[in-house]
Amino acid sequence: MKALQSINVYLIRYKWHLLLGAVFVILSSVFSIYQGVVVRNATNEIARLISSHASIDTGKFIVFGLTLLGLALTSGLFLFFQRQTLIVMSRHIEFDQKNELYAHFQTLDASFYKNHNTGDLMNRISEDVGKVRMYTGPAIMYLINTFATTVIILIFMLSINWQLSLLVFAPLPLLSYAIYKVSDTINKRSTIVQQELSKLTSHAQETFSAVRVIKAYAREEHYTNELEKLNAHYKKQNLKLTLVEAFFQPVMVLMVGISVIATVWYGGHLVIGKTIEMGNITEFIVYVYKLTWPFASLGWVTSLIQRAAASQERINEFMQYKSAIQNTPGVSAPIEGSISFRDVSFTYPDTHIEALKHFNMDIAKGETVGIKGQIGSGKSTLANLITRLYDVSSGQLLIDGVPIQKHDLSALRKSIGYVPQEVFLFSDTIRNNIVFSVDRHYTDEDIYQAAKDAGVYDNIMSFPQGFDTVVGERGVTLSGGQKQRISIARAIISRPRILIFDDCLSAVDVETEELILRNLQTVMKDKTSIIISHRDSALRYADKIIEL
Ligand SMILES: Nc1ncnc2c1ncn2[C@@H]1O[C@H](COP(=O)(O)OP(=O)(O)OP(=O)(O)O)[C@@H](O)[C@H]1O
Ligand SMILES: [Mg+2]
Repeated sequence: MKALQSINVYLIRYKWHLLLGAVFVILSSVFSIYQGVVVRNATNEIARLISSHASIDTGKFIVFGLTLLGLALTSGLFLFFQRQTLIVMSRHIEFDQKNELYAHFQTLDASFYKNHNTGDLMNRISEDVGKVRMYTGPAIMYLINTFATTVIILIFMLSINWQLSLLVFAPLPLLSYAIYKVSDTINKRSTIVQQELSKLTSHAQETFSAVRVIKAYAREEHYTNELEKLNAHYKKQNLKLTLVEAFFQPVMVLMVGISVIATVWYGGHLVIGKTIEMGNITEFIVYVYKLTWPFASLGWVTSLIQRAAASQERINEFMQYKSAIQNTPGVSAPIEGSISFRDVSFTYPDTHIEALKHFNMDIAKGETVGIKGQIGSGKSTLANLITRLYDVSSGQLLIDGVPIQKHDLSALRKSIGYVPQEVFLFSDTIRNNIVFSVDRHYTDEDIYQAAKDAGVYDNIMSFPQGFDTVVGERGVTLSGGQKQRISIARAIISRPRILIFDDCLSAVDVETEELILRNLQTVMKDKTSIIISHRDSALRYADKIIEL
């Protein structure tokens, strides 16, 4: 439960919602409970009529009816306000929590993302935040409601007869406990159903994105059978859930029934003994019904709070995770573009693979350097270190003669144009994919020029929608070479001080390669370029070539 303490800051932030909400809960209860008194008076009136054989005063009963109606409407109005404050508060908190969590995710480093899969991260934002909302919303609301209703009804009941009050109240804690048990089981089974559902969706999702491979190997039937199996599991778990859910209502009705019988039986005795009036029995029955939901909700709320605490604990775990890459700027000069590796060794923290060992390299500002080497020799690792996705394990990486850690992280990354080995395009227009890297003012001319330099302009213009063509999820509607060149245009449009091409000319033909390389001579004049490639032809304009 300690985890939920971190929610207190939000409750303080929205204290007016909370306080006002509590007042509305109490007002709503008072008006609702007072109906018991009206029912008592009406019953007593009937009892009087029966015993005295007097004629009915219709006006009196219309007043009883209208009073009941008025009380119900007033109580309902406050119920509306109560939800408009407390449930609205929980939505505000949910909104804040999601934003804070997502902002925090954005600060985390590459190794964090390698250790946590996407589904896990998505769950934190959607499911866990949702469960915490059940605490800040319904749980808090019903807790206040239970407390207010119980206290008010107790006062009303005790003023009439304490033995009968005790008898009526006795089964109620049992009701809370029974509902808690049922809710707890429902929650546990819902979690399993949720897990089965996410297995089912991830399977479907993966097969949709792999549909081309599946069809090419004629594996449709296999995957259809797989899905059917997962779907059967899902159904089975869902049926188990339905089974426990079916208990919820009957348990409530049973417990209420017991209380009502006790009221009528013992209350009857008291009426015969003239200790209480006939109307008190009906009044007590009204109270029993008014108490049912508050006590049932107590059990339900307990299990909600338990789940919220578990979720909040997972959220806290993530929020406490600090990125290994910290921004501790010490210099403010803009990046010039010289790079030195001094005896750099680097081991990937998660796989413990030593990708670089005592590596030295000097790149002067404005130089073009070619890097080649076998598969797995550490070429992409160099790019990872220069963009500071990772920090070196030992040795030093200097940018402009200053350790890379001393540069402002965002300024450093903004002055680098990086074309990764695996192209990633967003499911957006080509235009937006290219300007993705720019945060200064740009014109259409800039975009066209970047596309021309990357040798993809004519290609794009041949599409009916030109630069407004939407590339489909991850760029599925484009050829491999087109994707690579759009990715190159994205890197050069921001006029970087340092350009890194990680094997990004592999899918273009020799002529286009020549065109792009020659354009780079102009675009990257006086700026630093690092071209990683398996093909010697891509390195022919390099001032020097380093082999790993
Ligand atoms: N993100 C990573 N996490 C853990 N280990 C990695 C990671 N990336 C690469 N490695 C390991 O580091 C070594 C160097 O990988 P790197 O990607 O730098 O090679 P490369 O020279 O770019 O190869 P390729 O020519 O195939 O692109 C490899 O043995 C690889 O298994
Ligand atoms: Mg590589």
